[in-house]
Amino acid sequence: TERTLILVKPDGVARGLAGEVLRRIEAKGYVLEAVELRRAPRDLLELHYAEHANRPFFAPLVDFMSSGPVLAVVASGERVIEGFRSLAGTTDPTTAAPGTIRGDLGRTWDAPVQQNIVHGSDSVESAEREISIWFPFLVR
Ligand code: GTP
Ligand code: MG
Repeated sequence: TERTLILVKPDGVARGLAGEVLRRIEAKGYVLEAVELRRAPRDLLELHYAEHANRPFFAPLVDFMSSGPVLAVVASGERVIEGFRSLAGTTDPTTAAPGTIRGDLGRTWDAPVQQNIVHGSDSVESAEREISIWFPFLVR
């Protein structure tokens, strides 16, 4: 079955939302394959966000993602990649739809847009690439 890499970002962990994100993943019916709270080193985050290496927000994003612990999750299920991105909502929490994680819980008035609580892989290729970075023992 399909797998995806989900992160509860440092803002989500600091706000005590890790359990709420896990609850929504499980409530939808996806299966937790791995869950680990950890501080990510910069080199790991630079690999994770390699596609954004040339964007102006790359350095601030890596700074933010290394500012505190993240909850790294592998979840599985039919169309889980699309399904979790749907649960997460669009990138900007202010305009993300109500009912989504970012729409219900995210905000931009006291935090920049990069602090949008969660990450979810956006394709089968990125999911397998990201799983190999965060959970090498799960490589198929
Ligand atoms: P992820 O699930 O985290 O990958 O979010 P996404 O797919 O909605 O966004 P994208 O992959 O385009 O960007 C990755 C992350 O970079 C986003 O989640 C934000 O944290 C951050 N980001 C994206 N665009 C911007 C931007 O214009 N400014 C800033 N400061 N951060 C951004
Ligand atoms: Mg993305």
